[in-house]
Amino acid sequence: MSRNGHPSHLATWLRIWIRNPLRIGAIVPSSDELARAMAALVPGGAGPVVELGGGTGVITRGLLGAGIDPADLIVIERDPTLHALLQAQFPNLRVLRGDATELPALLEPLGLPPARAVVSGLPLLAMPRELQHRIVAAALAVMTPDAPLIQFTYGLFSPVDRSKFGLEGKVARRVFANLPPANVWRYYRAAARDRPASASQPALVSSRK
Ligand SMILES: C[S@@+](CC[C@H](N)C(=O)[O-])C[C@H]1O[C@@H](n2cnc3c(N)ncnc32)[C@H](O)[C@@H]1O
Repeated sequence: MSRNGHPSHLATWLRIWIRNPLRIGAIVPSSDELARAMAALVPGGAGPVVELGGGTGVITRGLLGAGIDPADLIVIERDPTLHALLQAQFPNLRVLRGDATELPALLEPLGLPPARAVVSGLPLLAMPRELQHRIVAAALAVMTPDAPLIQFTYGLFSPVDRSKFGLEGKVARRVFANLPPANVWRYYRAAARDRPASASQPALVSSRK
């Protein structure tokens, strides 16, 4: 295994990247170090963890390596080739093919409680602002009120518009062993800060439209 995933996965990645660089984002997959840094920010406990933009599975592997139960991990990937690759690599995971903007509808048939974290490997900063907003709104719609949204970026600034969504967030990890070096941001709903724990009990995803 190379630092950035299996060599054959890298070739698939490059082929897709050449076809459409903006759809996939980075020219190489994330490093194992970045994956571990993101996984370390997922809170323990019960409930689903949703990964957006699984790609070649580097972050997926990091999440599993951090001890997240495969039954709790749901991976979303829009690209059909990468989706098939993920399914083949992780036959015991639920890997859904679809667009992150449709997250509530994608998860609804699974009848899950709200997620305890959303971990995003999506290239948010390469997307138009309106699309970024739709993705963040979709992620927040499937999370418990006190769940974190975990997003990496190669940029210097927040990849998520905190004020628009009433979020608090900051760089929780800096990962230099990545090409390019990345910052991992962790966001919480500002309103969740002072809420007693009993007020943040999960409701069913299907009832939160
Ligand atoms: C920068 S890559 C990251 C992949 C992997 N998590 C990693 O870090 O190496 C972004 C991935 O998100 C997928 N993607 C981009 N936009 C998406 C969307 N709107 N919904 C679902 N997946 C998307 C791309 O196909 C690609 O696999």
